[in-house]
Amino acid sequence: MELSVVGAGHVGLVTGACFADLGHSVMMVDNDAKRIANLKRGILPYYEPGLEELVERGVRERRLRFTTSIKEGVATCTILFIAVGTPQKATGEADLAYVERVARAIARHLSGYRLIVEKSTVPVQTGQWVAHTIRTYLKRKQPFDVASNPEFLREGTAIEDFMKPDRVVLGVESKRAKELLCALYKPLGVPIVVTDIKSAELIKHAANSFLAMKISFINAVAQLCERCGADVQQVAEGIGLDRRIGRSFLDAGAGFGGYCFPKDLEAFINISEQLGYDFELLKAVRSINEQQKRSFALKIQRALWVLKGKTIGVLGLAFKPNTDDMRYAPSIDVIEYLQGEGARLKAFDPQVTTEAKRLFPKLMLCQDPYEAARGADCLVILTEWNEFKELDFKRLKRLLRQPLIVDGRNLYDPEPLRALGFRYVGVGRGG
Ligand code: UGA
Repeated sequence: MELSVVGAGHVGLVTGACFADLGHSVMMVDNDAKRIANLKRGILPYYEPGLEELVERGVRERRLRFTTSIKEGVATCTILFIAVGTPQKATGEADLAYVERVARAIARHLSGYRLIVEKSTVPVQTGQWVAHTIRTYLKRKQPFDVASNPEFLREGTAIEDFMKPDRVVLGVESKRAKELLCALYKPLGVPIVVTDIKSAELIKHAANSFLAMKISFINAVAQLCERCGADVQQVAEGIGLDRRIGRSFLDAGAGFGGYCFPKDLEAFINISEQLGYDFELLKAVRSINEQQKRSFALKIQRALWVLKGKTIGVLGLAFKPNTDDMRYAPSIDVIEYLQGEGARLKAFDPQVTTEAKRLFPKLMLCQDPYEAARGADCLVILTEWNEFKELDFKRLKRLLRQPLIVDGRNLYDPEPLRALGFRYVGVGRGG
């Protein structure tokens, strides 16, 4: 099939590269000329495991092409995916200006049937606005359909999530749209949920908010565990084995971050308000997450007493492992607090460098975990990168000024570390 994907960001580029790998002919459109020029040379705008190879193969086999021209994108396809950004406005609502701009551009260049599919995360009712905008700006009447096909991929495992999703959700309102999208996704061999457009839009926000709710729930339980001496990981195990609850997304820690959960939660609260419903439950999810980040920073402070003049080594800056993304990362809040209190920070992350330098000019970036630990009064874990799991703890103990580990991702088993002479502080592990 001939596909176009507008927006070569985290969702768009993975979508385009994966469809090209499945044998489709894909035109990637982005108005960022530098990004497109780089992509043509095989340089990716961000790190995602496996994506470089996929893009390279797509380009080599001429199934994946890049352009800055939306006209070209509209001209060459049967299905066009809108995967542009929907950033957060100061009010918390999603900024749909990019989506609207693409809808207008599509209308300008439309000739012959196209299926326009929302892939960006958008609030419910955006589909009808996209259809209305295209109809309004069409030069002369043209056949088209709008559909919603929300994406559930996670950064770091995006390709696997795309190729082997738990389900595909298709919000369609015509037989033609349904048939085209079902045919496109059939080769994945996964359950396909077909709904109306509004329900599909809601599924995306509801899914992300539900997952965020699970994390805030377990973080709240972690607070209780710390106060009464229980272990949150054992509690997560105990409740998670109940299939109605499920173990995933029950890892307590320094709070959730990234470009999706905080933003989508905010947008869902906002659209609920616009629809006349006060989604109090999600407001609590948001506030527990804010408290969790603050409480983690205070945990470090309590362990060190006075922060002024102390050196703190940080392992992990990305909002989660296997990405170089630091947007809304809990590390930002924690570092801001610690630096604000006068601590000197050194950090190591396997992928994040430029963004950390831009955000925190005073943060010293290290080449490996041992350099981050050298001369530090405390080692703080903020991202559970695999390579942090098996460190040489005897060496770390020699390098640290105080053998203290504050673990924001419950990465380590406390007992062996305590046996080695470390003071170990986790999240929700009995204080
Ligand atoms: C999330 C969803 O998981 C995807 O399904 C969705 O497609 C995506 O948002 C999106 O809307 O684009 P992502 O933000 O890449 O994916 O990352 P997650 O793996 O969901 O993690 C989000 C945050 O929650 C991270 O900061 C992570 O550390 C935290 N988390 C996750 C926890 O604190 N505890 C957990 O048990 C799980």
